[in-house]
Amino acid sequence: MIKTINPRKAAVIGCGFVGAATAFTLMQSRLFTEMVLLDANYDKADGEAKDISHGVPFAGQMKIYAGGYDDLMDASIVIVTAGANQKPNETRLDLVHKNVAIYKSIIPEIAKRNFKGILLIVSNPVDILTYAAVKLSGFPEKRVIGSGTVLDTARLKYALSKHLGT
Ligand SMILES: NC(=O)c1ccc[n+]([C@@H]2O[C@H](COP(=O)([O-])OP(=O)(O)OC[C@H]3O[C@@H](n4cnc5c(N)ncnc54)[C@H](O)[C@@H]3O)[C@@H](O)[C@H]2O)c1
Repeated sequence: MIKTINPRKAAVIGCGFVGAATAFTLMQSRLFTEMVLLDANYDKADGEAKDISHGVPFAGQMKIYAGGYDDLMDASIVIVTAGANQKPNETRLDLVHKNVAIYKSIIPEIAKRNFKGILLIVSNPVDILTYAAVKLSGFPEKRVIGSGTVLDTARLKYALSKHLGT
């Protein structure tokens, strides 16, 4: 079934440290009125949805809930933070195999639901996973954005400000 995009709906896949922080930040931003959270561990997504919902009265109006892939079809943006984290002695490239395997279970589920919004990739190694997401989804490149460069820009700005004492 084809649904139209709801410009005020966001989805977050992966509700670990990064996904939960992302969801909390989105709630505070007031940019969206609906947000669905997905995780391989449904209870984790459900717990975060309930926890973050309790902060809504301080920020505005937003429906936040745990869901499945059918719930994100009409979202305008899906933020993917799901994935394994880097372990001690593990390189970023070691992470590729684990996280590409995870992406193979996630991205095709989004693509086959005729999702028409933006995919924002956060899991690491972010540039490689962004490329994998383009390939696995078949979406045009302009609809698959990696968060890597924005973080690197922020880090450079911070390092420069420390160095220059500003
Ligand atoms: N791009 C960036 O700027 C940036 C910054 C920090 C962290 N990261 C990356 O973000 C990712 C998440 O980090 P974290 O600290 O939140 O990890 P985390 O382990 O706390 O959370 C990962 C979550 O992904 C879920 N998950 C795993 N497989 C899944 C699947 N198939 N479907 C749905 N959910 C699934 C897990 O259940 C878990 O809740 C890592 O890859 C990390 O390196 C990126």
